[in-house]
Amino acid sequence: MRSAILVGASIFGSAFAAAIPAALGSPSVYPALTDKSQLPAVFKLARGSLSNAPPPPQGALSADAITSLQFIEFNELFESAFFLSLLANVTNNVPGFQINDQDERNYVIDSITAIVAQEELHAINADNALRSQLAPTIQPCTYKYGTTSFVDAITFAALFTDVVLGTLQDVIQLLAISKDVGLTRGVAASLGQEGQQSGFFRLVENRNKIPSEQPFLTTSTRDFAFSALQQNVIVSCPNDSILKNKLKLYAPLNVLTTNIPAADQTLNFSIDINTIATSNVFKPASGSWSAYGKTFNAAYDWSQTSIVYINSQNLPVVVKPTNVKVAGTVISFSANFPQNTNLMNGLTLAALTHTAGPFPNASSVADATLFGPGLIEVN
Ligand SMILES: *[C@@H]1O[C@H](CO)[C@@H](O)[C@H](O)[C@H]1NC(C)=O
Ligand SMILES: *[C@@H]1O[C@H](CO)[C@@H](O)[C@H](O)[C@H]1NC(C)=O
Ligand SMILES: *[C@@H]1O[C@H](CO)[C@@H](O)[C@H](O)[C@H]1NC(C)=O
Ligand SMILES: *[C@@H]1O[C@H](CO)[C@@H](O)[C@H](O)[C@H]1NC(C)=O
Repeated sequence: MRSAILVGASIFGSAFAAAIPAALGSPSVYPALTDKSQLPAVFKLARGSLSNAPPPPQGALSADAITSLQFIEFNELFESAFFLSLLANVTNNVPGFQINDQDERNYVIDSITAIVAQEELHAINADNALRSQLAPTIQPCTYKYGTTSFVDAITFAALFTDVVLGTLQDVIQLLAISKDVGLTRGVAASLGQEGQQSGFFRLVENRNKIPSEQPFLTTSTRDFAFSALQQNVIVSCPNDSILKNKLKLYAPLNVLTTNIPAADQTLNFSIDINTIATSNVFKPASGSWSAYGKTFNAAYDWSQTSIVYINSQNLPVVVKPTNVKVAGTVISFSANFPQNTNLMNGLTLAALTHTAGPFPNASSVADATLFGPGLIEVN
């Protein structure tokens, strides 16, 4: 099926337009979140149910586990909305989302229908666990996707799913640290499930990618994932202050280089001082900004910062920004990306940090980050 995706001139009439199952709801309203009578229909579409084991007793979960569950609900609601939009576009033959081969189109629709229902159940699972603790739940947000073709949307899905695959590793480790052992198995079950989705995306992207990208998937942290979602897909959100009070929200680090090949190379980046106001890492300090006890503005010597790459389960790689240029509020610079030397395949997270480390793990990078994450995907 690999080469059968042909996106182009429409050969479809309205006869091919199928209806999207009503139980999946709309990107802002998921009936099964509030109306449990919809759940059996969602289970059927997801090809499986929520666990029928009882929820944890009230008071059993730590405050940090509640933060993780709120982050998971926030993220899974976005994923549900994205795939519902993609399903609607393919089903309705929206220009750019037409798949000419009928067998391929049916397979994609079947797969994405199940993925929407599965993501909704991931969100409902987190929602139920939060309710069991009488903790605040997260409502769906308004999202923007910026993808206008099937291949772009699948490529973006592969990218954010890789971020999720890294972040659920962080969640499991944090649950272990806070001794919330009861939640770890279910999070691992959804991590593997999203890994199966990732293999499907890599295949239908049709760029000769093999389904499994590397032996040990790139790790991430809740702060990086929350920042990536806020920067790239969130328009407005009724409940995101809950997470902004508990997780770091960085200012964006733009990766200017596109179509990054598998090779050692120099990448170009930029940051914009004007975006600092969106971050909760910086505080205003008499015409400048302060973070981590230092003062930053356009006149700061940005060559003192570092670019840190996180890939696989390896120690973070630290390089220095070079060729720093200031144009108004925008600071652009270059940095070495030793992709081939370090075999940095799949997802790499890039962060601009205020120190050069050394960083023993991804959390220590997150704790020193000013701008990020830049998302780089190779092979
Ligand atoms: C669906 O199509 C609309 C219109 O082209 C587009 O704005 C939106 O981003 C698409 N959704 C996805 C998930 O790509
Ligand atoms: C979450 O958003 C909903 C909808 O606006 C609101 O009713 C609810 O109070 C919010 N919850 C919290 C904890 O802020
Ligand atoms: C990177 O920036 C340098 C100088 O600012 C420029 O000469 C070069 O073409 C850029 N490279 C890419 C790949 O954009
Ligand atoms: C990460 O490294 C820091 C030291 O910088 C250490 O304090 C922390 O426990 C480590 N975190 C994890 C989750 O391994």
